[in-house]
Amino acid sequence: MAGKITVVGAGFYGSTTAQRIAEYDLVDEVVLTDIVEGKPEGLALDLNQSRPIEHFETKVVGATTTVEGGGYEATAGSDVVVITAGLPRKPGMSRMDLIETNARIVRGVAENVAKHSPGAVIIVVSNPLDEMTALTQLASQFPYNRVIGQAGMLDTARFSYFVADALAVAVGSVRTLTLGSHGDTMVPVPSRCTVDGRPLIDLMPAEKIEELVVRTRNGGAEVVALLKTGSAYYAPSAAAARMAKAVIEDSGAVMPVCAWVDGEYGINGVYLGVEAELGREGIRRVVETNLTDTELQGLREAAAAVRIKQADVQSL
Ligand code: LAC
Repeated sequence: MAGKITVVGAGFYGSTTAQRIAEYDLVDEVVLTDIVEGKPEGLALDLNQSRPIEHFETKVVGATTTVEGGGYEATAGSDVVVITAGLPRKPGMSRMDLIETNARIVRGVAENVAKHSPGAVIIVVSNPLDEMTALTQLASQFPYNRVIGQAGMLDTARFSYFVADALAVAVGSVRTLTLGSHGDTMVPVPSRCTVDGRPLIDLMPAEKIEELVVRTRNGGAEVVALLKTGSAYYAPSAAAARMAKAVIEDSGAVMPVCAWVDGEYGINGVYLGVEAELGREGIRRVVETNLTDTELQGLREAAAAVRIKQADVQSL
C-alpha cells in the first residue's frame, strides 16, 4: 500500500468518492478538501472512526482550503487528484447551465492542484464534464494524458443497470457501452451491448433498446428530479473511485472515460468520451472500437458539439 489520493470537494460526490477509495485500502492517505471550514476535517474524522469496523488502514485527512490556495499544502505530492468542486444541477437544469459558475471554481482548483501535485493524474467529475475536463487541462498545463474526465463509466453503468432490470438478469451478465459527451450528445452503443455474451439486439425489441438509450442519456437528470436538491453520487463516486484505482494500480484497465482524442475515429483535438487504457501515467492510449455508421456519426456529432463549447471555456 503506497500513495496519496486527494479528493477536492467534500459534498456527497466527493465524500463518497473518498470513502470508497479509503475502503479499497489501496493508498496510505486520502485527503478530502473543501472551502466550507471544518467540513472536510469532520468527515475525515468520521471516516477514520469507521476504520476499525470496516478494517482499512488508509488514513483520511481533511483540509479546509481557500480560493487563494490556502490549505493545499495538505494535498502536496498526490498521485491522483479527483476534482469534484463546483455546483450540482437543480431540477430542470442542464449540465451546461453550470458552465460559467463551475468554470471559475474549477480553474482555480486546477491551478492550485498543479502547483502542489505537479506529477498527479487529475480525474475531473465537475459538470459540464467534457468542458470542465478541457478547462482543467488548460489551467493545470498538464499533458493531456494526465487529465481525464469521469462520465463513460457512470453512463455505461446506468445503461447496464437499465438493461439488467428490464430483462431481470444479473447486472454482472450485462456489458454495455456509451461514448461521446456526458450530455445531450451522449452516444450509447447498442452494437456493443451483450447479455451473457449474446447481442442485446437479439434479446430486446429495437424500440425497447431505444427507450433505455433515452433513459441513459437522461440518467443524471432523472435522479436530480427525484432528489430535488443535489445530484447523483453513489454511482458517480463508484465510477471515479474505480478510475483512481486503475491509475494507482497501473492496471491497464480499459474504461469508457473522457480523454483527449487526436486522430482516433478521424476526430482531432477534443476531450471526448471514448474507451481508453488507464495506468500510472493516466491515459495510456485511446482504444478504438468497431462502431456502426450511425454510432460513428453520433460520435463525430458529439465531438463537433463539445469542441465548440470547449473553445468557449478558454475565456471563462
Ligand atoms: C450525473 C452527474 C453527476 O450524471 O453528471 O449524475
